[in-house]
Amino acid sequence: MNSDEVFFKWLPEYSVKIKTIDNQHQELVNILNRLFVAVSKREGNKAIAGILDALTSYTRTHFALEEKLMREAKYKDLLPHMEEHRKLMAKLEELSNKHLLKEKPIYFEMLSFLKSWLREHIQGVDTKYSAALQQSGFSVTAWEREATAEFALMSDTKRWWEVWKTA
Ligand SMILES: [Fe+2]
Repeated sequence: MNSDEVFFKWLPEYSVKIKTIDNQHQELVNILNRLFVAVSKREGNKAIAGILDALTSYTRTHFALEEKLMREAKYKDLLPHMEEHRKLMAKLEELSNKHLLKEKPIYFEMLSFLKSWLREHIQGVDTKYSAALQQSGFSVTAWEREATAEFALMSDTKRWWEVWKTA
């Protein structure tokens, strides 16, 4: 694949019909695309480790907010959903803390794993909770107002944007 192509293109069918969540999913896609560029252009381990760090911290904050939403809406499948989040976080932390990856092909393998994981997670379990919440009459609009402010507080760093700008 040419490095000028978009690695992970956001499609309308990825929407879970909750704007705050869609925006955060799109940010995750942006960070993955940034990581792809860094790997393709061989920006070096320091740059890649920085983006992996940003990806890990953004994902952690996003998952926490999603779990809060499901908890407040008393969503019945909260626990298995949290388990999926927990497993991915463990994997991301392993990747970013240990700086295990030094080889370009391994980075690409990891990138395609993360891309499939995110796409399948969004179109699978995220779509399910969103549909269940809307059906149960939970006020997503009120939650979104609260969540936007909360997310700003939870994102202790805006680091990934800084990382992006250096591209
Ligand atoms: Fe999720």
